[in-house]
Amino acid sequence: MKIDESEIIKVTNNRYRLNYHLMPTSGWMNDPNGFVYFKGYYHIFYQYYPYDSQWGPMHWGHARSKNLIDWERLPAALVPGDKEDEDGCFSGSAIVKDDKLYLIYTGHHYYVKNDPDNFWQNQNLAFSEDGINFTKYENNPIIANPPKDNTIHFRDPKVWEHNGKYYVVIGSQNQEEVGRILMYESEDLLDWVFKGVIAESKSSKIEGFMWECPDLFRLNGKDILLLSPQGIESENKKYLNLFQTGYFVGQLDYDQVSYERDKFTELDHGHDFYATQTMLAQDGRRIVLGWMDMWEAKMPEQVDGWAGALTLPRELTLVDDHLYMNPVEEVKELRTDKCVDGSIKNTKYLLAKLGKKEIELNIDSQLEDWEGNIFTFSMIQKGETKLSLTFNKDNQELILYRHGEDPNRYANLEKCMRLKLQIFIDRSSIELFINDGEVVFSERIYLIDNYDISLESDSPIDMGIQGYFLKGCE
Ligand code: FRU
Repeated sequence: MKIDESEIIKVTNNRYRLNYHLMPTSGWMNDPNGFVYFKGYYHIFYQYYPYDSQWGPMHWGHARSKNLIDWERLPAALVPGDKEDEDGCFSGSAIVKDDKLYLIYTGHHYYVKNDPDNFWQNQNLAFSEDGINFTKYENNPIIANPPKDNTIHFRDPKVWEHNGKYYVVIGSQNQEEVGRILMYESEDLLDWVFKGVIAESKSSKIEGFMWECPDLFRLNGKDILLLSPQGIESENKKYLNLFQTGYFVGQLDYDQVSYERDKFTELDHGHDFYATQTMLAQDGRRIVLGWMDMWEAKMPEQVDGWAGALTLPRELTLVDDHLYMNPVEEVKELRTDKCVDGSIKNTKYLLAKLGKKEIELNIDSQLEDWEGNIFTFSMIQKGETKLSLTFNKDNQELILYRHGEDPNRYANLEKCMRLKLQIFIDRSSIELFINDGEVVFSERIYLIDNYDISLESDSPIDMGIQGYFLKGCE
């Protein structure tokens, strides 16, 4: 199947186009897929619909990069419409074997057109020698059906190798309508054997009715199961997004086909973070990317002919069973001129009219001798606060406010003597990394005019501030 170039939607206005985040050249983007390193390049694929700025029959968009920062656009890798992926090439992953790049993805099929709730899903394979042109495997599907006690939800295979064998985890739902993860094993990526259910939601309200986009990997002696559950009920200040992305820390037993795990923890506390995928870099780093949006959210860029973006690539580390996320080291390559550099001790500091909008800001505040309790970072436009992050020393709480509907998101820090903020602002996004990635908020925010940044506290606070203008990556 081929894309019909003449029908691709055009971007009609650049006002919200991001400068250093990955987004579709036009059309729709959701989950990152197939994040992998192959023949000198990091490759990232993504759920993509070229003909409209809304979700439609899913393709796999494609880009590659030598440094995770400067992305080169490549033709769509998968186009739906073949017998085994008639109505969409849904999310999946990639692996390198014998110098070939393999993509494992979900084929989506409707029983009757115009009845989106009645579908079936299978798992398929495509491969490439050059990392640019992909051929679908002639004997697809590689996994035709879920086990009998499954519902129709059966998608998002994530593949890895362990002791010379291949494994996938697949997101699914059992007939009691709770989310669960299935594991399969293969010798050659072509023939797969169902091993069992390795994890299951406690109940649809507590842990979700469907588990999407699983990812299972080893970090610091533990097996992390990262996933995107649908249906967790919001609980006071937790689980406030429509769907969540978070993790379990546990141990996988390959022989017993079991996964011992603890509680579910949200990975990012912002409004816009979903459907993550990780890869193991050659230097041993575990790097994660997410879709920097949320299902059913308003996406003001849609009227401009595009929608969706990915977060910055982030390195994952595990400390005391808590996952930390920090922008990968390479992100420093984005820095150009310094826009601010100094130390202050005050209750109010204003960075006015930065002119350019793409900046990185690093703020390091000493809390030890601070007599105050409240510290706030805000973005202000025409006298109105569009976004703020407030730290409350009393209970170590962080409150993220974004102007508009459903404004607040919350997180707590472990007791700390320092408050460190690393903030990345792009044309229509902001990512806030707090205390070396202990807490992260990812947000889409649509400010097209100049804005000011203000730092305020209820008592003078010792602060070091460094800021950089960032180069664009289009
Ligand atoms: C997650 C998801 C996946 C699915 C894909 C379809 O956002 O729903 O489960 O494969 O998006 O685009």
